[in-house]
Amino acid sequence: MTQTLNFLFVGDIVSNLGVDVFLKHLPNIKNKYSIDSIIVNGENSAKNGKGITAKIAEQLKTAGVDIVTSGNHIWENREIYDFLNKTDYLLRPANFPSDCPGKGYAIYQVKDKFVGVINLQGRVFMRENIDCPFRKAESLLTLLKSKTNMIIVDFHAEASSEKRALGNYLDGKISLFCGTHTHIQTADERLLPNGTAYITDVGFCGAHDSILGMEKDSIITKFITQLPTKFKPETKPPFEINAIYSKIDSISGKALAIERIRILDNVI
Ligand SMILES: [Fe+2]
Ligand SMILES: [Fe+2]
Repeated sequence: MTQTLNFLFVGDIVSNLGVDVFLKHLPNIKNKYSIDSIIVNGENSAKNGKGITAKIAEQLKTAGVDIVTSGNHIWENREIYDFLNKTDYLLRPANFPSDCPGKGYAIYQVKDKFVGVINLQGRVFMRENIDCPFRKAESLLTLLKSKTNMIIVDFHAEASSEKRALGNYLDGKISLFCGTHTHIQTADERLLPNGTAYITDVGFCGAHDSILGMEKDSIITKFITQLPTKFKPETKPPFEINAIYSKIDSISGKALAIERIRILDNVI
């Protein structure tokens, strides 16, 4: 009987090209780290980088992804609303109003073990008026802890301070804390004192010579003019894959290892 499980958590996948480069490297990553379960943030995986489609969610699932988390961009593609209500593997942040489509947590099985995933969004420098992520995490933990000690949180937030605060607040209560949303991988992965593996931001999958996966000129124009501007995903190589590997003890729920993964690829 296996007592530890190896998890792969992949940062915000940007556009169909981000999906392609992730899927291209997935077999090698799985092999290198003996991955048992895969979680990806798919909030930018639609072709235009805004939201996700049912087809892409299904493509990721078919490729072996167990849970797809998201964030603020999940609402931008309305066709996904029905799918969010129908599926249990595509999540939206749990601290949005309860009558929004979908749900923000899942319990799924890996081998003979159960794993809980919670998706939350931050409130600092974010536009949405949503519930307190700290209190929402607490109430969901009460529910999930009755089923499993292995719990993974995707905290989709802008401010590193808010991420550090929630990560440390949850230290010892969850197994793995992965920050997402900024698309910039932080070099602060660590095991917190009470056994939670932590990183402020996992990063993203998409074009390397870009601003957050988007064409640079349009983003710069937005900052200079402050006018509404259309952003398009950058399509030129190289592409990068940002992810986290973590080993978790299934009985105690404590993390035993965390490692950053960053791969640069010149072609898809
Ligand atoms: Fe994102
Ligand atoms: Fe986001």
